[in-house]
Amino acid sequence: MENFETIAIRTQMERSQYLEHSTPLYLTSSYIFEDAEDMRASFSEEKERNIYSRFTNPNTSEFVDKIAKMEGAETGYAFATGMAAVFSTLAALLNSGDHVVSARSVFGSTHGLFTKYFPKWNISHSYFNVNEVDKIEGLVKPETKILFAETPTNPGVDILDLERLGEIAKKHSLILIIDNCFATPYLQNPIKFGADLVIHSATKLIDGQGRVLGGVTVGNPELIREIYLFSRNTGPALSPFNAWVLSKSLETLAVRLDKHCENALKVAEFLENEPNAENVKYPFLKSHPQYEIAKKQMKLGGNIISFEIKGGIEAGRKFIDSVKLCSRSANLGDTRSIVTHPASTTHSKLSPEDQLEAGITPGLVRVSVGLEHVDDIIADLKQALG
Ligand SMILES: Cc1ncc(COP(=O)(O)O)c(C=O)c1O
Repeated sequence: MENFETIAIRTQMERSQYLEHSTPLYLTSSYIFEDAEDMRASFSEEKERNIYSRFTNPNTSEFVDKIAKMEGAETGYAFATGMAAVFSTLAALLNSGDHVVSARSVFGSTHGLFTKYFPKWNISHSYFNVNEVDKIEGLVKPETKILFAETPTNPGVDILDLERLGEIAKKHSLILIIDNCFATPYLQNPIKFGADLVIHSATKLIDGQGRVLGGVTVGNPELIREIYLFSRNTGPALSPFNAWVLSKSLETLAVRLDKHCENALKVAEFLENEPNAENVKYPFLKSHPQYEIAKKQMKLGGNIISFEIKGGIEAGRKFIDSVKLCSRSANLGDTRSIVTHPASTTHSKLSPEDQLEAGITPGLVRVSVGLEHVDDIIADLKQALG
């Protein structure tokens, strides 16, 4: 097997007759056929080829191939957004009457799927707290089909033990689905620990420059086939242009992530010593409650830090208003450092009780550490913390 950086750069679609060095962009909605028989054979899947860009396109296939190789998966399907990936993956595999066991700390819109939309189709869920993995087995019912989690979690930066989740899923014949958005395939490969499917919001560190939206699911070919057929009919496909951008971005994922993680560790160490910052959480800080698990399953700690400002919601808002270099934005995983107040933005649709249960306190701040010089990032946070 090639090394990660080589896969990222050398996984490339076949060259055209022009012998281009870098991958071209195929902006075409459909493809033509030699004759009626070629068309029939293509539609009946006797031939593997591009038919229509809602199903496949050379740019989306290149992007999917790269992510699949990086995650140690055979195949996958790419989506217009991370949420399209989460929704389509779950909706393709779940039937009326099925039940999902999920970590409580999931992205706000994923929580919305479990609590608001899936109940309409008679699909129920049970949540476990991130520090209560031992309670998962007690939540499993005969109709439970999927075990779902993110790690590190958004926004609390908690870590779930992937090996343990893999064992539980295997024992109860559940499909284990991991949203690997915060780690990227460079830092963590959940399939190694028993995940059946891995989902990414490519909008975040995979693009890494805050330009395009995208999502992808890779893993078990039989499950991907179900997801592909669902998506071919329902249309959440990634655009070829975004696939081209994302595939180019993957070429630099390793070098970008090395620097993101180096900066983030320095920022986390600075915050730990700041009197106005409390409960600083970063996976590779020794003080992180799941530090040992993070070390076991992650290559580096990622670029997201969460902490609480002394003084609760008012102090939190004042901090957000005071940053000068860092952006006030809901995105993460950009070259630009970003500060977010999850309780009033990304997770505002959760009730105050649900927020607290998911570890989102009123004063919680999420920092996405970028690629500016780390001294400038620290200086900005220091002046904003007062
Ligand atoms: C963990 C996680 N999953 C999924 C998503 C959704 O991704 P997108 O915004 O690309 O739809 C996000 C977005 O922040 C996220 O943080």
